[in-house]
Amino acid sequence: MPSIAEQLSERLGDAFASLGLPRELGRVTPSRQNPDVFPFQCNGAMPAAKQARKAPRDIAQAVLDAVAGDALIETAEIAGPGFVNLRPAKAAINARAAEIAADERAGVPVTAAPRKVMIDFGGPNVAKPMHVGHLRSSVLGDSLQRLFRFRGDDVVSDIHLGDWGLQMGHLITELEDEQPDLPYFDADYEGEYPSQPPVDIEDLARLYPQASKKAKEDPERLAKSRKATAELQAGRAGYRALLRHFIDVSVAALKKDFAALGVHFDLWKGESDVNDLIDGLIADFKARGVAEESEGAWVVRVARDGDKKELAPLILVTSEGSSLYGTTDLATILDRKQTIGPDLTLYVVDLAQSDHFEQVFRAADKAGLAPEGSLEHVKFGTVNGPDGKRLRTRDGGTFRLADLIASAIKRADERLHEAGLAEDVGAEEHDRVARMVGLAAIKFADLQNYRTTNYVFDLDRFTSFEGKTGPYLLYAAVRVKSLMRRAEAAGVAAGPISADTPEERELVLALDAFGAAVEQACENRAPNAICDHAFTLAQAFSKFYSACPVLSADGEGEKTSRLALAEATLKQLELCLELLGLEAPARM
Ligand code: ARG
Repeated sequence: MPSIAEQLSERLGDAFASLGLPRELGRVTPSRQNPDVFPFQCNGAMPAAKQARKAPRDIAQAVLDAVAGDALIETAEIAGPGFVNLRPAKAAINARAAEIAADERAGVPVTAAPRKVMIDFGGPNVAKPMHVGHLRSSVLGDSLQRLFRFRGDDVVSDIHLGDWGLQMGHLITELEDEQPDLPYFDADYEGEYPSQPPVDIEDLARLYPQASKKAKEDPERLAKSRKATAELQAGRAGYRALLRHFIDVSVAALKKDFAALGVHFDLWKGESDVNDLIDGLIADFKARGVAEESEGAWVVRVARDGDKKELAPLILVTSEGSSLYGTTDLATILDRKQTIGPDLTLYVVDLAQSDHFEQVFRAADKAGLAPEGSLEHVKFGTVNGPDGKRLRTRDGGTFRLADLIASAIKRADERLHEAGLAEDVGAEEHDRVARMVGLAAIKFADLQNYRTTNYVFDLDRFTSFEGKTGPYLLYAAVRVKSLMRRAEAAGVAAGPISADTPEERELVLALDAFGAAVEQACENRAPNAICDHAFTLAQAFSKFYSACPVLSADGEGEKTSRLALAEATLKQLELCLELLGLEAPARM
């Protein structure tokens, strides 16, 4: 059964059609004016009046006449210039509530038109520490993969590691400075390379900044790294063996970090994985005239007439013969086309890379690799410090993801103590709860804004149990779970739902809106619609819970009906949390 809003839209659409007007004008949406009396409205009479050259109120009246006596509608009225206000019938509300309560998807059907969706997110760089931009990409990308899967799409996610650029040349040359006798640097070496990596994650974290600092001050040092990068890409065996070690060491550490964050990737591929495709791709681009020579380099010209700002050509091969970020992205599109065949690819990456993706998408389109609309840059803004500028550490460095998470968990722990929560669950469980609360705090804070909005990192606000926060939602879920346990202990089971009070009705209508939120979140690639929905639902439950006693309700029917409502709320709330990548403890 469709949602109540959809059922009403259907009826009003019929009415508009019967008047010879477009069905779409019958779209019904939740109303904010006076939702207690008329929870829904339709504003189609105004545009209809323009088309039909009639007074909007007359059209609204004709629509009401056409739906008169419909069992779905309890009352309807015309307001203001021609708004149609609607109140659905009690039976319709109860029927929909029963359906949501019985459905493991809490009332949201699987899409009839599933697609194959590739999601490229996370994107950490080997050897460079992850920063807060990678956190945004990870949290947002993970929520999007959950959302599209829930919608019914076939999703493949890929971390797309940065493992092919200059940083690899930096690592190689810096390691050579420290340990020149390793066999990897001997161009004539023909034996087997050691299977154990010559570095650990700490070494990598040290080597990269060391080299990058030197290269900034010394052009010769930079040239050395460049040369090593080109040799690596050209296939120098010792360098390739080192690359493998660097990637393995880095991936092992990243897998731990992402698991702790609750973020999953189907594929752990990187830029270096498409290396074998690059020569062929370049030859093909040259042969077909997609690429042109320019000052010794090969480029794809992507500027178009009518561009508002000039878009530089994409550099496919530098004059030194190296491939760049755009080249690996194009080869990756080719690889995905051959191995996965996505209908849609989403790149969840910082707004600052907008030009890069515009270049890549246009080049891919020009080369016939992927039609332009099938590739999409899902942009996001910055996380700022209290000064409104990009978040920095006290000494001005970029924030490390691991430190950020640790500080959130610590603050969550303090918050739990302040609120007297999770006190008597044992030390181990307490730590687990603090972790969930801390992660929920930063993830929710990130997701609740529309993604291109910049926001200020404010742990005090994020970890609060009051207001629109992750911890508030976890606490709301925990309260319902505790009610469920008490109901079970008292031997009360859920029964048929009858939404008789305004609070019960409001709760059902909140539940009813979940599908629209999922659709909107998928459509806009923006999980904030789920954050809004979860918050509205939690608030509607809270109002219901304080106005309508459940286990101490008078009648048996009332008790079991209200319990069924609570159970449906918990199920939907937990689905929302799951879509956002949050987890609620059993108690706290
Ligand atoms: N490694 C890149 C960075 O740190 C992000 C990769 C994004 N994905 C892509 N296909 N380019 O900026």
